[in-house]
Amino acid sequence: MKTIHTIRRSTEILADVRERGAKIALVPTMGNLHEGHLSLVRHARTIADYVVASIFVNPLQFGPNEDLDSYPRTLAADTEALLAENTDLLFAPSAKEMYPAGTGSQTEVKVPGISAILCGESRPTHFAGVTTVVCKLLNIIRPDVSVFGLKDFQQLTIIRMMVDDLLLPGEIVGCPIVREPTGLAMSSRNNYLDKKESNIAPKLNQSIRDARSALESGDRNFAEIEKEGTSALEKAGFVPDYFSIRNARTLETAIVNDNELIILAAAYLGKTRLIDNLQVDPSTNP
Ligand code: PAF
Repeated sequence: MKTIHTIRRSTEILADVRERGAKIALVPTMGNLHEGHLSLVRHARTIADYVVASIFVNPLQFGPNEDLDSYPRTLAADTEALLAENTDLLFAPSAKEMYPAGTGSQTEVKVPGISAILCGESRPTHFAGVTTVVCKLLNIIRPDVSVFGLKDFQQLTIIRMMVDDLLLPGEIVGCPIVREPTGLAMSSRNNYLDKKESNIAPKLNQSIRDARSALESGDRNFAEIEKEGTSALEKAGFVPDYFSIRNARTLETAIVNDNELIILAAAYLGKTRLIDNLQVDPSTNP
């Protein structure tokens, strides 16, 4: 595996790779890699000849009071983990490389509407930061396929919309959430949890599973199910941000006739914000 830090070097290397006719996959990450990320790399390996992982803690997607400074940066361990997965290229640019004139004067790419709901309500600048950096990464690497996790379901939906709208290169593939044995979705932010919070954290997934059971048994009282989910989170010690049943394609508020539903939730445990989601099996529709 080669590790590179500049756009220029990536252009040189990937020109050769493309010349050979190899299919290129990109796995964009912010590092601090766990099994969730590595499952994306493994999937990329099965669908492409040449796998590029990027590690960039993107300042543009962090709000002013968020965890940009404390976000775990573990490049040495991440490099080892990517090597073990036979990654071909690690692209780990600096902020100066990605935003030479600083983030303040960076042209931004924003998918309107959907970027302002759910996570976008409490993190108003977050998704524009994500779409801007992903747009740049797609233009730098020009992959045939890019692989993202379904844990960030809203992010994935927004990225798909951006790619469609701007005719950006490559297919976008989503991979299943990887969970701890407790059901907790793997996330770099789980590292922030103390012992007591770690014991509570799996209840986020439990509350979503309870909501899914209700929906799969034919209950369509969405408001009531959301209320129960929210109160289960509060009782467990979370401060819920949202607990919401949505149309799984558009992320608009679900209506009774929707046949693709998803339950999404975000909640704070102390200072840590956790998110999770589950799709409802459409074959159980009443
Ligand atoms: O999901 C992430 O880790 C980030 O939002 C991404 C897609 C790498 C963009 O910085």
